[in-house]
Amino acid sequence: MRIDKFLSNLKYGSRSEMKSFLKQHEVFIDNIRVILTNFEMDEFNDTVYLDGKPIFYKYPIYLAINKPQGYLSANRDNQYPCVVDLLKEPYNRFDYAIAGRLDLDSEGLLILTTDGSFAHQITLPKSHVPKTYEVLLDRDFKDSKALICGVTIKDGRNQLYEAKALEIHSEFNQAWITIDEGKFHQVKRMFEAIGYLVLKLKRIQIGQLKLNDLPYEAYFEFRKENLYD
Ligand code: URA
Repeated sequence: MRIDKFLSNLKYGSRSEMKSFLKQHEVFIDNIRVILTNFEMDEFNDTVYLDGKPIFYKYPIYLAINKPQGYLSANRDNQYPCVVDLLKEPYNRFDYAIAGRLDLDSEGLLILTTDGSFAHQITLPKSHVPKTYEVLLDRDFKDSKALICGVTIKDGRNQLYEAKALEIHSEFNQAWITIDEGKFHQVKRMFEAIGYLVLKLKRIQIGQLKLNDLPYEAYFEFRKENLYD
């Protein structure tokens, strides 16, 4: 990859700004000061030093974040803060695919990854990755059987869809539900279909990956195998 592409991919500036960037900053690879924008480098094996410090470059990156309410599961938006805005150096320099979005008013475990095919793969219905949600309902819950047997909801395209819970248990007006599909507003619509209103929704597990007591806005790197271990 050319050095100007590498640096602008990492958001140090646009490609056209790289000529002056390389003059103003000391960029070294293998003890060679890089001045020319068309310098060819190996992004996976070269260590690039910028003003004396190595640049963090890693591919792929898999992050699990605790999304708070009020953040969009998106990269950018004109109206709302986005979950990627929560990432700090060095992770904020990468572009992420978001696997299995959460609604604006939902919270909990969300996967961000630079590995687009992994994000795509785990959101495919045929992957059947189980996801567990903790929900707070408007009244005590007593209808587990109905959700295990299946309820008809509308999906994101307003098509009727038979949605089933894999597992569910409850205590008063709190319930923990596991599904292995990911239709639009699926959990809220499943409870609505049997006359309950979801007041709060938190995703606590995706595959084998658990939220545990990760604070809001915090994130950690995981290996993709951890999802299935
Ligand atoms: N189901 C919902 O209804 N909302 C979410 O954010 C996730 C699953």
